[in-house]
Amino acid sequence: MAETARLSVNGVDLDLPIITGSEGEKAIDVASLRAKTGAVTLDPAFMNTASTSSAITFLDGEKGILRYRGIPIEELGEHSTFIETAYLLIYGHLPNPTEKQKFEFALTRHSMIHEDMKRFFDGFPMTAHPMAILSAMVTSLSSFYPYALDAKADEYRDITIIRLIAKLATLAAFSYKKSIGHPFMYPRNNLDYCANFMHMMFAVPAEDYVADPVAVKALNLLLILHADHEQNCSTSTVRIVGSAQTNLFASISAGICALWGPLHGGANQEVVEMLTDIKVKGLTAKQFIDQVKDKKSGVKLMGFGHRVYKNFDPRAKIIKKACDDLLIKLGIKDPMLDMAKELEEAALSDPYFIERKLYPNVDFYSGIIYRALGIPTQMFTVMFALGRLPGWIAHWKEMMEDASTKIGRPRQVYTGPTLNHYVPLDKRA
Ligand code: ACO
Repeated sequence: MAETARLSVNGVDLDLPIITGSEGEKAIDVASLRAKTGAVTLDPAFMNTASTSSAITFLDGEKGILRYRGIPIEELGEHSTFIETAYLLIYGHLPNPTEKQKFEFALTRHSMIHEDMKRFFDGFPMTAHPMAILSAMVTSLSSFYPYALDAKADEYRDITIIRLIAKLATLAAFSYKKSIGHPFMYPRNNLDYCANFMHMMFAVPAEDYVADPVAVKALNLLLILHADHEQNCSTSTVRIVGSAQTNLFASISAGICALWGPLHGGANQEVVEMLTDIKVKGLTAKQFIDQVKDKKSGVKLMGFGHRVYKNFDPRAKIIKKACDDLLIKLGIKDPMLDMAKELEEAALSDPYFIERKLYPNVDFYSGIIYRALGIPTQMFTVMFALGRLPGWIAHWKEMMEDASTKIGRPRQVYTGPTLNHYVPLDKRA
């Protein structure tokens, strides 16, 4: 017999179906609740609510497990490339040699942006945050590809996906070039995705540039580790915007905006700013941790804590090791890394962090790798967006291809005034 959960509301007994996921997680299906009892569920910040079923990414926060389409993140980090992982997330399987070659070829052929788009960059101030530019540019892509506006038209879906992945790297690099007043460097088709991105970021017309393979490898790893994270804030945003059958470019632009926040992807920038601040003020790790523990200070240890991981974040573990390896290989000594390690050690042995199960998350060490690659702090969240793009696309596509998808529309519990009446201006106190 199928498992159910019994709920009594206003004298009505309901047997609600229990849905079991492929990894054994259970969810009580409350879809019939309001129709049968008039009541809704209340779960601020979705602490207990699954908003959808999804076959893309599995995450176990207690055991520190993260798998894309069943494959552990550790294996992908070791053996895959970002583009192969993107294909896996979006199409559900690792590409065979022909699929891989076709996908990579298409990505190189669609990496240029329309020349008219280049002029958009001139409208932004030099000081514009690159995340503001990126979200505006991504939604602007929909004006150049009008047939992508019909989100349900599956004949254009693959080419729209290719265009978006290919052009996001170009848009990201151009926004950096604009901020430093350098000429835009056009994409190079003989380079793979990450090497091409480094070229567009760091090459100048005056001299030859070859990206360091060690740096390209580290970039691939970072992007793989960021590529999906099931129903996080930005992915849920992409899904809710997309549920209105909004086109891919606009849905992803909304995700970029959600990612920007300091509690989400914006944390990687905040971590390096925090480390810099600690250095400038001459604080020890212990003094800073004491500030964090004093709730009145309003100071947080950025890059620590996670809604889902309550043991360790497997991505942080891989990134910390990659960070050590990269700095040694590149011969860089970064005082920020030493400070980050001191803070981690101080926090992990402190009852405040132990009791609250707060561990380093993906953002704690990623910024130090970006610094080593020469990427400026303001660009860190853009790097996160580049990495997260395949995940957002996979979720948008999964939702579009599911005939049962309905527009996302949460309920609320109203707590405002009950019936009230209009008072003419001259009668108001
Ligand atoms: N520093 C200090 N205290 C913290 C931190 C932190 N980084 N994170 C959580 N806490 C404390 C909270 O103050 C709270 O304490 P209390 O029980 O005394 O009130 C307790 O730990 C639980 O934290 P919540 O904020 O309720 O946990 P939630 O799941 O809502 O938030 C979040 C998770 C937003 C990631 C939080 O840990 C945080 O703000 N971290 C810093 C920002 C950050 O690194 N964000 C990146 C997350 S990963 C990502 O999105 C890519």
